[in-house]
Amino acid sequence: MKTQVLPVTESSLAMAAKIINDGGLVGMPTETVYGLAANALNAQAALRVFEAKGRPADNPLIVHAAEVEEIPPLVRAIPEAARRLMDAFWPGPMTLILPKADCIPKEVSAGLDTVGIRLPKSRAARALIRAAGCPIAAPSGNRSGRPSPTTAQHMLEDMDGRIPLILDDGPCEVGVESSVIDATGEVPVILRPGGITPEMVQAVLGRVSVDEHVMSPLAEGDVARSPGMKYRHYAPKAKTVIFEGERDRVIAAICARYDAATAAGERVAILGFDEHDFGGRTRISLGHAGHPQDAAARLFAALRELDERGETLALCEAVDTAGIGLAVMNRMGRAAAFDIEHV
Ligand code: TXA
Ligand code: MG
Repeated sequence: MKTQVLPVTESSLAMAAKIINDGGLVGMPTETVYGLAANALNAQAALRVFEAKGRPADNPLIVHAAEVEEIPPLVRAIPEAARRLMDAFWPGPMTLILPKADCIPKEVSAGLDTVGIRLPKSRAARALIRAAGCPIAAPSGNRSGRPSPTTAQHMLEDMDGRIPLILDDGPCEVGVESSVIDATGEVPVILRPGGITPEMVQAVLGRVSVDEHVMSPLAEGDVARSPGMKYRHYAPKAKTVIFEGERDRVIAAICARYDAATAAGERVAILGFDEHDFGGRTRISLGHAGHPQDAAARLFAALRELDERGETLALCEAVDTAGIGLAVMNRMGRAAAFDIEHV
């Protein structure tokens, strides 16, 4: 199969909608990351998503809609707190876990009694959902275990020959996947941080809870509240270490480790901020210090670049966990298997 990459136009949207209506798969831009889109009401199409990604069968897909009115038939209930989050943050980078209605096939929910629902803000995504006329199941468009794609080119790297079409809407604005919030109980719990931050949820509901595994690995015997927590994600081939602490000490520790590793024959790159002076050592930019949205938008591309360059060791500057910084540190932490040095 040849994979076409086309800009978003009326005719490419019509092509994409036809592929989805025929049970096929399409690369869909969203404001977070590119997704691998399928008809969410078609069990066979959902199975194709798992196959194309190489995704474990127990990791559910999230379902995307274009309008709030399309949600009630997809779920059995919308608790009050969920309703308030929907009003505040949709359309936008937030997925709510709700009790699943029967029309969502078990292939989509991976056998769970719940389903993740999201109303993306991206105009291209919403246009595709409208053109297809059905809810769209879309995990991130990477092969399982790889960083999520934030450009059509990244998605092509992973899906070339596996799907007929990727719609190209340029680089994703947010750059990390949506916040996943379990809204089935009285107090919503953030299972995966993203563009809708704990502070934003707190401001709307007056309370917020963040799952303990957002910043720590699952230990033997721990139960994952979200299947995605179980899997090693975003892992570059390079061993990845995060340095956290006062800025000058972090820079000094990174430079010292860089020099020792280089002397030992490693290929090393730093993931660091533009304003910080690493003395000409190889650096992949995380954007401006103090702008965690920069790091969010650049992190996945930086992880891909490590592999392209054949680096064997990556030394990363930590980001403050306020705001979207928590999402950055969650993804960076998982890429590093939570190998964090406090200096
Ligand atoms: O921003 C996004 O959310 C992107 C774009 C394409 O919308 N999609 C995305 O999907 O990141 P995916 O499948 O890569 O990540 C969804 C995460 C997984 O970690 C999965 O385990 C979790 O959400 N999830 C999905 N349904 C769930 C459920 N019913 N209960 C708990 N966790 C769920
Ligand atoms: Mg994913």
